[in-house]
Formats: sequence, structure tokens, C-alpha cells
Amino acid sequence: MRVVPSLLSADFTRLADHVGQVEAAGAEALHFDVMDGHFVENISFGVPVMEKLRPATKLFFDTHLMIADPMKYAEPFAKAGSNLLTFHIETTKQPRTIIEHIRSLGLNVGITLNPSTPVSDIVPVLDEVDQVLIMSVWPGFGGQQFIESSLDKLREVRSLLRPDQRLEVDGGVGPDTVSAVVSAGADTLVAGSAIFDQPDPGAALKELENLARRVC
Ligand code: DX5
Ligand code: ZN
Repeated sequence: MRVVPSLLSADFTRLADHVGQVEAAGAEALHFDVMDGHFVENISFGVPVMEKLRPATKLFFDTHLMIADPMKYAEPFAKAGSNLLTFHIETTKQPRTIIEHIRSLGLNVGITLNPSTPVSDIVPVLDEVDQVLIMSVWPGFGGQQFIESSLDKLREVRSLLRPDQRLEVDGGVGPDTVSAVVSAGADTLVAGSAIFDQPDPGAALKELENLARRVC
């Protein structure tokens, strides 16, 4: 069970401090929400920010590419220090090509799907990824409300995964939804506003982890 802080909600004027706080509180990974203004409406941050942050922490970099051309940017994000790259199935008709490319860069591979995309769209390549990410909000912005139907998707995907594959959930995860997503099979919980919009991000992370472990 892992709670992964999403930097989208961090204070960018003191990013390293915020990272240090969650690392000291026991975080194992950081979630980077990369947005290009095409695949999603918003623009967030990219390679230069990750490059600058990489020497400041040993945490696993879990990169969520909300971008129209993941093939083009996989290598720059690998060089910038990503450990895992997740791409959206909606961006490609050839997911296997992207999976092989990310693997050839020596990184773990994740695949994700928008709330309206059926699980059947990722089934042909499920065996080939390390992690499946279920979007429980429409991608593009932090602080949105959790979409309840994501719980059915989590249960469906969990039943299809091997024990060594991770099931991540992203969007609207906080004290009110942690139990439900863990019960539905998620083992990797992304949380942005529930951690970084709180007065003490480290304490907020620990509290979410405690709530999650109560279900296990
Ligand atoms: C949404 C992003 C999420 C987001 C989560 O596009 O993929 O990672 O930052 O934020 P919260 O936890 O605030 O819903
Ligand atoms: Zn994300």
C-alpha cells in the first residue's frame, strides 16, 4: 500500500521543501502530472522542473503523461529522472509500441484511461504493464470531486491483474474516499490537495496511510 503525493497541488515557490516534508513523513514516490494543453485543457510543468528536482530527492518518480504525444516525450522524461511513465490509452492506436519504447528506456510502464473509456480498451495490453492507473476525475485539474463509478472500474481491473502489478487511483482521493478505493482493490493512491493543501503535508500523508492500512 502506497500513498503517492501529487506535486500538482504543491506550493511551487517552495517545491523542494514540500518534497522534503513528504519524504520525511515516509513517502516512497512522487506523482508528476504533466499536461500539454492539448490532451487536457491545462498546462502544468515539464522536463526542466523534473530535472531540477531530481538531485533533491531519492523518491521514485511516477510520471503521469497527460499529453497528446507520449512517444515524443518519453525519452526526455526518462533522462530527467522518471522511474515510471504512465500514458493514456486515448492517445494511441498502438499502445504496444509505446510500452516497448518506455521499457527500452529502462523504465517501468503504466497505462491509464479517462473516466469514460471502458476497461476493455486496455485489456489487450494489460499483461505488459507494471501499473494500471484508474482516473477517478477527468484529468486536467487537482481538487475535483471523486467519481463514484471509478470503484467499479477498480474492481474490474483488480480482477484482471497479476499480484505483481500495481493498481493506482488518481483524483479526489482523500480521507472520505480512501477506504472505498482500497476496498475496491487500489494499492497505490495518488493524493494532491488532500496532502499539499493541508497545513502539514507530512501529517496529512501519514493520516491517509493510516486510513488505508485500516482496510488492509
Ligand atoms: C488530475 C491529476 C491528479 C490530480 C489529483 O489531472 O492527474 O493527479 O493532481 O489531485 P487531487 O488529489 O487534488 O484530486
Ligand atoms: Zn495524475
